[in-house]
Amino acid sequence: MQRLVNKRILLGVTGGIAAYKSADLVRRLQDTGAEVRVVMTQGASEFITPLTMQALSGYPVHTDLLDPRAEAAMGHIELARWADLVLIAPASANFLARLAHGHGNDLLATLCLATGAPIAVAPAMNQQMWADPATRKNQLILQEKGIHIFGPGDGGQACGEIGPGRMLEPLDIIHQAAEVFDYDLMTGKHVVITAGPTREPIDPVRYLTNKSSGKMGFSLAQAAAEAGARVTLIAGPVALDTPNRVKRIDVVRAEEMYQASIQAVEQGCDIFISTAAVADYRPTVTADHKIKKSTEEIHLTLIKNPDIIAAVALHEKRPFTVGFAAETQDVIEYAQGKLKNKKLDMIATNDVSGSDVGFNSDNNALTVIWPGGHKVLPLASKTQIAKQLIELIAIRQS
Ligand code: PMT
Repeated sequence: MQRLVNKRILLGVTGGIAAYKSADLVRRLQDTGAEVRVVMTQGASEFITPLTMQALSGYPVHTDLLDPRAEAAMGHIELARWADLVLIAPASANFLARLAHGHGNDLLATLCLATGAPIAVAPAMNQQMWADPATRKNQLILQEKGIHIFGPGDGGQACGEIGPGRMLEPLDIIHQAAEVFDYDLMTGKHVVITAGPTREPIDPVRYLTNKSSGKMGFSLAQAAAEAGARVTLIAGPVALDTPNRVKRIDVVRAEEMYQASIQAVEQGCDIFISTAAVADYRPTVTADHKIKKSTEEIHLTLIKNPDIIAAVALHEKRPFTVGFAAETQDVIEYAQGKLKNKKLDMIATNDVSGSDVGFNSDNNALTVIWPGGHKVLPLASKTQIAKQLIELIAIRQS
């Protein structure tokens, strides 16, 4: 747990039965070499006393926004600046809602508004509260804000019910907190990633598409966010959850993916990665009503879609541009052609002739090619491959 050595962790404790675990969390964080200060909400003080936390942390516990004595010692703005990480464990449903909506109605919520440090929450609540649509919505807002969400765990709850909502165990929280300080290869960079298929409508109920699941692009988005980047993920229609700290823009048609990509480039991005399997063609016309079966043959006329990555590579605000190539034969040769023709900085090619890599698989194997060099990333999970590719991109882009 080297990554937590000398890190300053501001531990926020909110009201919930899991607050008793926070006492253990303080000790275990200190064992990793981290410095810990504790802030408690009024609700938290109903479950565990500030005195306990003070004795464990070795520092006065902060509870009030308007406490002149505490402000004189270390004011709330100083505390917000002091932290390398604001970790809220347990985070109640009420606190998640306040954090999602930017409330500043107590010391902890105000600190979260005032800090420039990463914020992580370890939710703890009854499983029904966690499943409630309002909490689901708040979780999405928090993810979009770049807030790390640790857990919750699944299992028996203090209220006797069973399901997701338990606060993670202190050691699991510590492991995830360490990952916040993971390799910061992409700190300060804005990475835009396209993922998944596009869907080109024929009529209101039919469309042209392909087998892309979005897994490769979503894994890359997660790896880039873990490497410290601000990530915008432009996703075609896929059934995947948005990775933590990633801003997601959903699109359906290639034309929409093109518009979203160009807009992101115009707003400024450092790296553009195109994993999307964009439909090369779309029907020239989309029928307003369902096409009826009448003749033995019908003819569909297709027109070419815009080449998104080629347009990005030609843009005056051109980012470092990375393409993918899905090939079933002469893989390297075709990929080299695309690298050159589309004026890319790098291309990652996968052989999609089998079913164990590429489209809709959990694994992949890539040959990454750039002008003057290449690297083979052997078969591994898409999560692992994504980490390796992000590392390679960061090295070549800098
Ligand atoms: O989504 P998964 O199931 O995880 O599968 C991952 C994947 C196999 C889809 C992915 O690894 C991959 O190979 N993506 C590129 C697929 C592809 O169709 O490549 P292509 O050879 O048609 O296109 C080359 C490059 O141009 C790609 O970066 C593509 O995103 C881009 N392109 C293509 C056409 C177009 N109109 N606009 C584009 O930007």
